[in-house]
Amino acid sequence: DMMREVLGLKELERKLKKKLPVEDVIVVAGDSDQSPWVKREMGRACVSRIKHALTGNDIVAVTGGTTLAAVAEMMTPDAKYRDVLFVPARGGLGEDVTNQANTICARMAEKAMGHYRLLHVPDQLSAETYQSIIEEPAIREVLELIKSSTIVIHGIGDAKTMAERRKTPPEEMQKIEQNEAVAEAFGYYFNQDGDVVHKVNTVGIQLEDVRHVPCVIAVAGGASKAKAIQAYIKQANQCILITDEGAAKRLVRDD
Ligand code: BG6
Repeated sequence: DMMREVLGLKELERKLKKKLPVEDVIVVAGDSDQSPWVKREMGRACVSRIKHALTGNDIVAVTGGTTLAAVAEMMTPDAKYRDVLFVPARGGLGEDVTNQANTICARMAEKAMGHYRLLHVPDQLSAETYQSIIEEPAIREVLELIKSSTIVIHGIGDAKTMAERRKTPPEEMQKIEQNEAVAEAFGYYFNQDGDVVHKVNTVGIQLEDVRHVPCVIAVAGGASKAKAIQAYIKQANQCILITDEGAAKRLVRDD
């Protein structure tokens, strides 16, 4: 920790804790926009935070994204994970396979040597089909597990970047732009005040549920995500933020 003090990371954490309504903040060195290894450092910090938060029979829900993929890569086995169940936080959000919550969930659980359950719900469904799918006993069971998560680990994205990456249809894209969305998390889009302006319809954890989860860890870095992090945190209730110097420096500077 001496090194982190010398590097000014501790000071950034103190400033961020004053500025944002978070339970705790961890800042790792570097800017993940510039250097890909910084995501792995956030991943390492996140893994140690997860271990710290485990209480026994935890259900850990994870979202997708490249940052969460880095968390999964940094996961290490521990006897503590023997009774831990990993689940994807929400169903399909239009991401490529590598960025999907299911993929990351399975990878993380394998590395931890824990257990996992996946959620097989396609992205594009008619309301009717959707309704019958979620009534399937196997799907319902996983949905109930997800709703009883004790730990949620998620990414935060820049709204435009995420909408484009998900190949959002033009009408929705327009809605997202007109409502000046800046942040995205769990398939919800937020404006700079932290109000939800658009939402991708899928099953799994809803934003209201997240507020009741005992431990929520948000992992997001890079100067380009500063606005998104700030907007998302405005509406979040007591989350632990794991970020990098790039985002942190911009966050303490901007007002
Ligand atoms: C998604 C999460 O999978 O990852 C989003 O569901 C988040 O909430 C996004 O915005 C972030 O992606 P990345 O690649 O920037 O870590």
